Parts: sequence; structure tokens; C-alpha cells
Amino acid sequence: FPVERIRNFSIIAHIDHGKSTLADRLLEITGAIVTTEKNKQVLDKLQVERERGITVKAQTASLFYTHKGHRYLLNLIDTPGHVDFSYEVSRSISACQGVLLIVDANQGIQAQTVANFYLAFEAGLTIIPVINKIDLKNADPERVEAQIEKVFDIPREECIRISAKLGTNVDRVLQEVVERVPDDVFKALVFDSGFDHYRGVVANVAVFGGRVRKGDRIASAFLGKSYEVQELGLLRPHEQPTDGLYAGQVGYMVAGMKDVKEAQIGDTLYHQQHPVDALPGFKPAKAMVFAGMYPMDQSEYTGLRSAIDKLTLNDSSVTVQKDSSMALGAGWRLGFLGLLHMEVFNQRLEQEYNANVVVTAPTVPYKARLSSARLIKNRRATQENMLYIDEHRVMMKYIFPLNEIVVDFYDLLKSLSSGYASFDYENAGYQAADLIKMDILLNGKSVEELTMIVHRQRAYSMGKAMCERLKGSIPRQMFEIAVQAAIGSKVIARETIKPFRKNVLAKCYGGDITRKLKLLKRQAEGKKKMRRIGNIDVPKDAFINVLKRT
Ligand code: GTP
Repeated sequence: FPVERIRNFSIIAHIDHGKSTLADRLLEITGAIVTTEKNKQVLDKLQVERERGITVKAQTASLFYTHKGHRYLLNLIDTPGHVDFSYEVSRSISACQGVLLIVDANQGIQAQTVANFYLAFEAGLTIIPVINKIDLKNADPERVEAQIEKVFDIPREECIRISAKLGTNVDRVLQEVVERVPDDVFKALVFDSGFDHYRGVVANVAVFGGRVRKGDRIASAFLGKSYEVQELGLLRPHEQPTDGLYAGQVGYMVAGMKDVKEAQIGDTLYHQQHPVDALPGFKPAKAMVFAGMYPMDQSEYTGLRSAIDKLTLNDSSVTVQKDSSMALGAGWRLGFLGLLHMEVFNQRLEQEYNANVVVTAPTVPYKARLSSARLIKNRRATQENMLYIDEHRVMMKYIFPLNEIVVDFYDLLKSLSSGYASFDYENAGYQAADLIKMDILLNGKSVEELTMIVHRQRAYSMGKAMCERLKGSIPRQMFEIAVQAAIGSKVIARETIKPFRKNVLAKCYGGDITRKLKLLKRQAEGKKKMRRIGNIDVPKDAFINVLKRT
């Protein structure tokens, strides 16, 4: 069927206004069913629906209808009338271009009539008012038409008076669907995008309506820029070019976009001449973990910048901001979806771009108010709900401070459950908490990148653990190093790294010169992986290692 001959519509109504009866009649006159007493209301399929005489789940039926010599495919998407199921209504509506708004000729506009009207109206659908049950003794279609005009601002002449029960005027309803409901317009959701050196951005799309062909002019809802489709096709799983992509298909598209930010994940694409409301899309990928990234040496700044630029081109969920640090110089503050994301990004920088990066301790975003009123003391996770999915699986939902889960919660959970438990999280917003700033000092000098915001009750144990782990990750040096954790000027934990007892080269005295040179070279190479803080060499992976509680 060509797209111009397809109509997608729903019937919406207050409960008992006759939606199912009308649906049955439409099926009947299009020859989709032969009605008998037994198969009355065929679209209502669930047993509970038959028993209660109500619609719960949306059902769909395809009707073929000939109008003015052309055959049309009318997709009727059923919706429930009860308020509890309005989710189903909005879902059904999102698949349509038009609705039949049924109103009982006796009862007039009711609560769900209004609610459903607004769902359809906000979705920009064509609304055809249908006044049903005109056969009833007390039917008062004039009064109802006046209500419709007043409440919904739809001219009364547009109303169709019918009796679904008797079939009166039902054929008119189908004609109006064909004539007034627009055909399905192209809309597609971008669910992934990548960058190809030769073709530019390659967007993976799911087509939700209509079709798109090579050469079509499309636009994106987010930026409103327009493009010409240069190539598209299916993924099976390799790209297989096709002439078009149709509703229901998933595929790839190249349209001359130069930057992945032009094909934002969750964005909606449509034909330039037929703008659509943006699809609900995804929640924008939100950076939850932030870390500083600095070149090992400031001379590597430009190289690292281009490496980060190139990598973020393929991963639009990473946020980048310029940053600088007293100890580390100029660098960036990057936001990631989680710690694994951050580690993968860092590893790719090192492996694919040969970059030498210092990554600072990851932090989570806080909103700080500089006052002593942080009042609510609530650190432990609070359980939201628990749902047994089956006898072997349970789904538990907790609200956690992000800080508690970001570093190693997933690893711990996996190991405690022998790999069976799975974990997912989403942002539940900011909550007030009793937090303080903890500094880590090396020989009295604060290590900025290890400064943490911790919960007051956990400061001592965290401080102690951090000092112990730092002691384990900083090699002995020529002098003694005091590793301290402090809150303000108060030191709360301390470890000492003893100096070398002997000069490393002492054992080489008298030995041959090549051994000595080798040893010095190895030391120099080791130094490259070090970050100098004050006069202390700190291995660059120490920052992240100290945060893992293994
Ligand atoms: P839900 O599926 O629960 O939302 O209800 P509905 O809107 O589908 O209503 P349904 O089609 O089940 O009709 C409700 C009642 O009204 C039934 O008893 C129908 O027989 C009756 N009814 C439907 N259309 C007409 C009509 O045109 N005239 C008369 N007299 N009764 C009708």
C-alpha cells in the first residue's frame, strides 16, 4: 500500500459511550468480520474485558475500504476508555494521525471525553467528533454538538451523528476517516549515531511512521537543520543499502551530517515539508560521573585535545569542559555515564591515540550551598519497591546516593551474587545530605585531585582507607612521606611511607656500567608514568586505584 492510501486512527471515548460497538460495526462493514451474537466486540480480546465489558489493552485491526474508486488501508487502533488505562490511550494515539471522538448522545461530554480529547489534541491529531446512540429515546444530539463546540472549539457541523448499535451513518464515519485523517507522515527516531571518515555521520534510526527515500529532504527536530538523504538501508547486521525505509523498519541513514551532535540520540527526523511533533525519544544521556583529564606533560596538550575531540565525535554522551589545576596544568573536565564508561574512554585514548593521560578521581555532581544548614541526615539507601518477576527473580528498587554506587558497587554486587545480579540506575534528582569536604595531603600538601566530598559519618573510615591505599600505590622515595586525610585543618587519618633504606644504585657500585645504565633507564621510564606533586612522584593510576575498594 502506498503511504498516501494508509490511515491510522483510533477511537476514543468515555467508558460505555459505544467505542467497541462502533469498532465492531466498522469491522463489519469493511468485511473484516461477520457479526453474530457470539463474536460481538471482537476487538476486546482479553477474558477480563469480555467479563467486564470494558477495554483494557489496545488492539489493532486493519480494514480495507474503497472510497471513490481507490482502495485504502485503514488501521484502527483501539483504546481503552477507563481512566486507569490512559497510558494505553496515549500509546495508541502516538501511532495515529486521527481519532474518532465518540460522545454518547444522551450523556454528553464526560470526564474521559475531555481527557482523551486533550491527549489527541496535544498530539496534533485530526479529531472527528462522533455522536453515538442517536437511536436512544432521550438522545439529544443538538445539546451534545453545542457542548462539543463550546468545550473543544470544534464547529458543530463537523460532528457525525450515528447509531453504532443500528449501524446508522457508520459508513459516513469511514468516508470521513479517509478524507480528513492525513496519511502517515515520515518520522524516525535516532537511537544511535557514529562517525564515518568518508560519509560523515551515520545515524541508526527506527522508522515510526511513513517512509523515507534516498534524495528526500529531511530535518531533525532538535536542531531544525535540514539535510538530503544520501544513503540508507538495513542493518543485517552489516549495512545493506535500500531505496527506502518504511514504518516499522530499523536501519541506517547518511544525510551529510558533519558532527554526531547533529544526530543526537533520541532526536526525531521527519520530512522537511511535513514537520511532526518530536517522538518521546530517550532521556538525554546525562553525565553522572566527572573526572579531570590532563596531559602528562603540557607539551602534549594539543595532541590530547584532538584525541578527545575525535573520541567524543563517536560518543556524544561524553561532556567536555575546559579545566585547569594548580598541580596538573591545563586540561579538561569530562562527564561520563558511569565509571566503566570513563575507564573505556580512557583506555581508548591510550590504545587508539597513544595518549598519556592523568585521570583524576571521579566525582559526582553536587549542588552545594555554602552554609551550615545541611540538615537532612539520610545516607542509607531507601527501598522504593520490590517486585518478584518470577520465582527466581526479584526486582528491587532503591534510592541511593550516587556517590555510593558509582565506583565499585556494580563489581561488588556481581561478585556477591556470583554474576547473577544485574544493576541499572537512573537519576532520581538531588537530595540534601550531610556532606563535608575531605582533603588528602602528601607531606602536608593537599592533593587537589583526591579531594572528595564524603558523608560526615563515613569520613573517618574513608579517610583511613584512602591513606592506606595511597600508601600501597606510591612507591618509596628518597624521603619519608606522610599521607594524611583532613577535614579542614583537622587530620583524621595518617599513614607513613618510609624512605628507601639504601640508594638503588649502591648495589651497582663496582658492577658493570651497562647494568647501571639499564637500571637508570628503567627508573626514568617508570618516572614517565609518574605525576609529580610537590616533590613526590605519584603513579598516574594511583588516583583511580585508591578509589576502588578492592
Ligand atoms: P469500553 O470498551 O469499556 O470503553 O466501553 P465502550 O465505549 O466500548 O462501550 P460499548 O461499545 O461496550 O457500549 C456500551 C453500551 O452502549 C453497550 O451496552 C452497547 O450496546 C451500548 N451502545 C453502543 N452503541 C449504541 C448505540 O448506538 N445505541 C444504543 N442504544 N446503545 C449503544
